[in-house]
Amino acid sequence: MSKRPKISVIGVGYVGLCTAVGLASRGYSVVACDIDVEKINKINRGIPPFFEPGIQEKLSESVQKGTLKGLVGETDRAVMETDFTYVAVGTPSNSDGSIDLTYIKSAAVNIGKALKQKTDYHIAIIKSTVVPGTTQSVVLPIIERESGKKCDVDFGLCMNPEFLRQGSAFQDTLNADRIVIGSHDTQAGRRVEALYCEFYSPQVPPIIQTTLSTAELIKYASNAMLATKISFINTIANICEKIPGADVQVVAEAMGLDKRIGSQFLDAGLGYGGSCFPKDVKALIACSEAFGYTPELLDATENVNKKLPIKVVNLCRQQLGTLKGKQIAILGLAFKPNTDDMREARAIPIINQLLEAGACVVAYDPVALLTAKAIFKDSICYANSIAGCLKDADCCILVTEWPEFKKLTPDFFNANMKQPILIDGRRIYDPQKFRKKLKFSAIGLGQ
Ligand code: UDX
Repeated sequence: MSKRPKISVIGVGYVGLCTAVGLASRGYSVVACDIDVEKINKINRGIPPFFEPGIQEKLSESVQKGTLKGLVGETDRAVMETDFTYVAVGTPSNSDGSIDLTYIKSAAVNIGKALKQKTDYHIAIIKSTVVPGTTQSVVLPIIERESGKKCDVDFGLCMNPEFLRQGSAFQDTLNADRIVIGSHDTQAGRRVEALYCEFYSPQVPPIIQTTLSTAELIKYASNAMLATKISFINTIANICEKIPGADVQVVAEAMGLDKRIGSQFLDAGLGYGGSCFPKDVKALIACSEAFGYTPELLDATENVNKKLPIKVVNLCRQQLGTLKGKQIAILGLAFKPNTDDMREARAIPIINQLLEAGACVVAYDPVALLTAKAIFKDSICYANSIAGCLKDADCCILVTEWPEFKKLTPDFFNANMKQPILIDGRRIYDPQKFRKKLKFSAIGLGQ
């Protein structure tokens, strides 16, 4: 492997595609495999299969230059043609919170079968989020069994978690805070380190070499810490709401100036959603329980988050007396701005509870309307503009803090709604300004 290594990536969700396009855009020859024909067709036409700022240009450039090609299935060919294989398949939640390893296992089987045919040394790198112990006790035996080869001797096995955020996924891939490489043997770990040193040169982020299970745990611990930080500030928000004159935003700003605390992930609001935090906190709880330890702090993180949609619906009920027959405008559906993803979006339990209470819901989101239509079908109405969403509304709940919502003025709400009642679920409006002209309430704001 003296020349530039060739790379294959199995699974082209956010993590897989960003890894593939990141490497291809820096001149590596990359093969991306997925079983989803439509996804691969799009990739081969230079079109990202999901909305993600910044990736479109680099993807089409890489496809045109021939540094990136997509394959439907054909893992064996991908492994044969390359030196490293990243596994970035999904690890969805089971109903008990544990993770479903179906895709991981089938990727391991395919890699093993391909390695049976291959004479050269190959390195498999698990990038999917898997609970501690999975790479060692699930992936390794499958590859050895299917290939008839020995880990460390004929192939290497590493675990290299990804910390990218949706909405800035591609930039996060190119500018990582740290690289974590767990390995079964140091030879494979060093080779993956060399790949990253070359990729990030001259600004190589700190690289942590560790065991497979520590690498797996680092991913969960990081996400659980961030989720806990959010539930912490939302707890302070709940306290603020009971104290006249208290404002969680000012509390968070002052807390964040303490370098030991830091200002990020202290935005109080409707809590966390998305494809990672809810799933990862649940999985870490389930994994700890399986090892005989109850992680009470993580249980609390989850419980605090679970109650926030109920809180905002109750706030709405307080303002209107009853929700039955009332028209509620929902601004923002995506789990956060800059994505069309609604996995575990806070809008889902909020809307479901409003519907259960007999309210009529009109929703607007700059990019997630199609995603929402697949979830709510015709149980709610969809507006094509902010004004259309507010028209005739008795109350508006701001759920996702898209930049275009931040520009709205109290007069705009007054002019468009039937009753100017606004609940700011993400603390994007100035309470002083808005309270003067509307019935305004917000998360973490004492009356
Ligand atoms: C997260 C992690 O940040 C990333 O490192 C990991 O790889 C995947 O999970 P992501 O799910 O894309 O990334 O979104 P993120 O920006 O972290 O936000 C997650 C959720 O937390 C969103 O619903 C967001 O609205 C919420 N959030 C975030 C808050 O409520 N308050 C905050 O201060 C920050």
